Amino acid sequence: MKQETSKQNNLKFFGIGKVIPYLKKYRKAMLGLVLGSLVGSLVDIGVPLFQRYALNHFIGEGTLDTIVWFVLLYLLLICGGALVSYYSTMCSMQVEVGVDRDLRNRAFSHLQTLSFSYYNQNSVGYIHSRVMSDTQRIGGLVSWTLLDSIWQGGYVVGAVVVMLVINLRLALLVIAVLPLTVLLFSLFQRKLTRANREIRELNSQITGNFNEGITGARTIKTLVIEKKMERSFVADTATMRRKSVGAARLRGFFAVTMNFASSLALAIVLWKGGVIAKTQIGTFSMFMSYAQGMMEPVRWLVDAISDLITTQVNIERLSRLLETKPDVRDSDAVIALYGDSFEPKRENWEALRGDIRFEDVSFQYPDGDEKILEHFDLDIPFGTNVAIVGETGAGKSTLANLICRFYEPTEGRVLIDGRDARERSQLWLHSAIGYVLQTPHLFSGTVRENLLYGNPNATQEQIDRALELVSATDVVAKLEKGLDTDVGEGGDMLSTGEKQLISFARAILADPRILVLDEATASVDTITEQKIQAAIDTIIRGRTSIVIAHRLSTVRNADVILVVKDGKIVERGRHEELMRARGTYYRLYTRQYEDEATSSLLG
Ligand SMILES: Nc1ncnc2c1ncn2[C@@H]1O[C@H](COP(=O)(O)OP(=O)(O)O)[C@@H](O)[C@H]1O
Ligand SMILES: [Mg+2]
Repeated sequence: MKQETSKQNNLKFFGIGKVIPYLKKYRKAMLGLVLGSLVGSLVDIGVPLFQRYALNHFIGEGTLDTIVWFVLLYLLLICGGALVSYYSTMCSMQVEVGVDRDLRNRAFSHLQTLSFSYYNQNSVGYIHSRVMSDTQRIGGLVSWTLLDSIWQGGYVVGAVVVMLVINLRLALLVIAVLPLTVLLFSLFQRKLTRANREIRELNSQITGNFNEGITGARTIKTLVIEKKMERSFVADTATMRRKSVGAARLRGFFAVTMNFASSLALAIVLWKGGVIAKTQIGTFSMFMSYAQGMMEPVRWLVDAISDLITTQVNIERLSRLLETKPDVRDSDAVIALYGDSFEPKRENWEALRGDIRFEDVSFQYPDGDEKILEHFDLDIPFGTNVAIVGETGAGKSTLANLICRFYEPTEGRVLIDGRDARERSQLWLHSAIGYVLQTPHLFSGTVRENLLYGNPNATQEQIDRALELVSATDVVAKLEKGLDTDVGEGGDMLSTGEKQLISFARAILADPRILVLDEATASVDTITEQKIQAAIDTIIRGRTSIVIAHRLSTVRNADVILVVKDGKIVERGRHEELMRARGTYYRLYTRQYEDEATSSLLG
């Protein structure tokens, strides 16, 4: 797996530029967000000013002459503030949800265009967190973080300006506390972020070990390493505890510092305020409000900046995903003629016959360091049933991958019906290929829905016939609700054998010209295997089929058996011929036969 480490580059702010195109659609909401938060901060600044007026005028001068106006205006301010706050929150929500959704959709549809190799090189977990959490963090940044920074930033700036105007000397004294606060906060902020990250990493490590402890329980027992596993688990949790306590302590310190900073600013006002602001009690109280109220926004700002910095990593990773070009791509000319997966031009597709030919093919995986195939030639005329056998790592799946054009040859050509596969679209080829893997995959939904993925227009008779052909009628009948049984996520409510039979039926409904079965019987019991074997014998009729088999007894009827070793065909022929030749196939076959005999004796 090639995966980048989440290296943090504190100097990079510029990734945010990549998000701007996604904001254009939400221009109105963005404007509402910016204006709303500006007005919100003005309201917050206004409140202490009203207090000042009330104290100075009504109490200081002892008159109530303007009280009605005062009350009305004050109410207006408060109500307006509430409305504006509501409005900007709505705008922010709209931006957050919209940007998040757009990025996710974009990532999802881009992922559909990427090649097999991308999924080989990047784990599901990695892709999942790009699509889910990166988009979420970016959405949060351009909405809530932006709202907070404008609102809180506006408040700090406004309060400073008002204080400066009203009393320059006292204002300067209070403001002097600010740089110190910012410094302290960012120091803590950094430590806290690091502590939190360490805890998160440790946590996922513990979860991973825990999962392994459960899924590998039997292996652990048979290896008698319980003590060792437990020791490492206990050690991890102890570290976790230490780090968590450390982080909690940091948070405590952080809160204390906050209080200290506000108290310090307050103390300054109390100490000098009386003298500097003379007897004006209102001004005095206003300064107290600002001095105390300013520290929280400063903290928010520091938070926002650190958010901006850490989200750069998310932006970068997501845009790397969005900028990844698929390894296997149809040329512009091909797309113009055949369309792409979103707008296929089926009317231009030729019918596919099913001749396959490897012509002087050399191949190396994009991230591999050696050639798997070198100058490989192979001719599979339509209707041939080819079996490919060989040891693990011989290159069998690689051949299947090339036939399906999941990868393209590094040199040479793969011809489909006599023409280079690259001259026609991937979709054209894929719509004529049925591909059944060792680990069958069903989608969540019912059995029927899964069968219909093979052919959305299949009738009930066709479905019944397909199930019968693969001897899956009983299997489906035994399910609680028959065809309408929910198979669960990934089909996990069914056994592998059941899933395999259903995926065969699905392949039949699709009625492909070419059928590729990659070790489709490797993970089922012998009885299911016999059923599947019978199913295979039925469904390969009238098609070109490539059957990669682990168990050699299943390929005896193939038209031609290819024995592959190190990416080369070392033997080819029918079962009887290869047995007579007493070469690699003979050795593989007899060894397997003996193994099976032994295990059936023992079992
Ligand atoms: N995605 C990949 N990237 C790099 N190397 C690969 C990849 N898949 C397979 N290989 C390598 O190619 C060789 C042939 O693998 P494969 O075709 O899967 O063998 P088989 O199916 O016969 O077991 C092996 O050496 C394997 O390590
Ligand atoms: Mg394989």
